[in-house]
Amino acid sequence: MTSTETQVSRSGDPTDADWWRQAVVYQIYPRSFADSNGDGVGDLPGIISRVPYLTSLGIDAVWLSPFYPSALADGGYDVDDYRDVDPRLGTLSDFDDLVAALHGAGIKLIVDIVPNHTSNLHTWFQEALAAGPGSAARDRYIFRDGAGPDGSEPPSDWDSVFGGSAWAQTPDGQWYLHLFAAEQPDLNWDNSEVRDDFLTTLRFWSDRGVDGFRVDVAHALVKDLTEPLPSKTVLPRQSESLGAHPLWDREGVHEIYREWRKVLNSYDPPRSAVAEAFVPAARRARYASADGLGQAFNFDLLQADWDFGKFRQVIEENLALAEENGSSSTWVFSNHDVVRHATRYGLPRDPEGLWQDGKAWLLSNGTEPTVDVEQGLRRARAAVLLMLALPGSAYLYQGEELGLQEVGELPAASLQDPAYFRSKGAEKGRDGCRVPLPWTIGGLSFGFGSGGSHLLQPTWFGGYSVEAQESDPTSTLTLYRKALAVRRGLQTNAGLEWIDGVEWSLHFTRPGGWQSVTNFGAAPIELPEGAVVLSSAPLDGDKLPTDTTAWLI
Ligand code: NOJ
Repeated sequence: MTSTETQVSRSGDPTDADWWRQAVVYQIYPRSFADSNGDGVGDLPGIISRVPYLTSLGIDAVWLSPFYPSALADGGYDVDDYRDVDPRLGTLSDFDDLVAALHGAGIKLIVDIVPNHTSNLHTWFQEALAAGPGSAARDRYIFRDGAGPDGSEPPSDWDSVFGGSAWAQTPDGQWYLHLFAAEQPDLNWDNSEVRDDFLTTLRFWSDRGVDGFRVDVAHALVKDLTEPLPSKTVLPRQSESLGAHPLWDREGVHEIYREWRKVLNSYDPPRSAVAEAFVPAARRARYASADGLGQAFNFDLLQADWDFGKFRQVIEENLALAEENGSSSTWVFSNHDVVRHATRYGLPRDPEGLWQDGKAWLLSNGTEPTVDVEQGLRRARAAVLLMLALPGSAYLYQGEELGLQEVGELPAASLQDPAYFRSKGAEKGRDGCRVPLPWTIGGLSFGFGSGGSHLLQPTWFGGYSVEAQESDPTSTLTLYRKALAVRRGLQTNAGLEWIDGVEWSLHFTRPGGWQSVTNFGAAPIELPEGAVVLSSAPLDGDKLPTDTTAWLI
């Protein structure tokens, strides 16, 4: 962006260093948002063409999932080149146009950065393969000789997150570590070239005008690979390791983020960052500290059952933690890794501990429970009103504003997720939440583009389209638009006050007389005093029905 272009933030202050603290951030998974050239894959010009839609929604910022050159072994989280745009998605000049279009509309832009691993097609990895054992090129990654008399066994029995061994063998016999897919070799963050290069990448995008970064698997970069490597049978549980696990959440990672923070703070206003770190709540503050990334995702509500006690505990805990370290809390129900929450809330209660173990994104293939679509949507609408009334920033995932359901019926031959392949089809993976958005009621690819769609859209998609909901006062799209508009006028940095009284409900107030009350129970409850400004479902006379949130002033 050039210095002559206006960059007016929605708060009216483009220099606001704290814009992210209470922001509503909308995640765009670029290949599935809008396709401008009819090749079936969403692209940057497609996003630009939908900026008026983003404006009408009333969001503060876009988080753009990876748009870098990639062979798509993991939906773009296998990056070939961190400082370019995938030609199927556009060019660097399109990227500059996107920044200008968003900023012109008062919307900030956060981009995804993937520091734990490159793709196997990245120049560095190709160099490492060619250079052979013991070379400087191999030191940028984690190569080891194999175990067993002839080195034909992996160096350890560790599993990758997507299933199968975390080690892959190269033609010369050495093995490399990949915590995710084999096409995602882990970088060696003890290597200074690796550290320097990511600082260059942060500057590259910051110079182009991005406002912040979402840091992928922020808790994995630093590892203790002291020999002999321990067997997985003696590794502590990740969630209980408190910094003692050799692979996850090690203290050393914060030294890296302190370096990043210096770079981010060298911009005016400082660039923001949010960590994707699957760590226990008590360890999250380390990632969200002011001299670190500043903010960290909290997936606790996403993983909570639809239960008022659990919701309250999660909210209290996270608000207290955010206050302790001077950050602001984050809230999220859906993203590109999990079953859409309008579907999750329609599943039978806690199917096999699916939500608690953090694997909500892995509905087992062929054994899906029946989804109660009506209940799912009703609860999703109630949940989002509750979330948007909380202090902190809210992260929305494209399509949730349409009440979109997970697509469970994707043909096996069209699946793309490495989790599906590496589990040998036992897990369905995450493609069902990544199906391109429906913009129109009919037409080829429901207005996604003039060609097809890289993941098959089901026939029922048209009913959820923007066109179908645009002028319907009761639609989920209308609910989101109204809620974001009301929130904009009321949201502050201040905390909340609980009002106890009615069982099975959560009721709190915010400054300005803003009240939010959610009925998690089976029977309607009395509404508190005040004028209802918005409700997630029609009221039952003067009562709040089950699975409904109302805002009052
Ligand atoms: C987290 C991302 O959200 C997910 O989509 C990806 O597969 C892994 N990190 C690996 O990069």
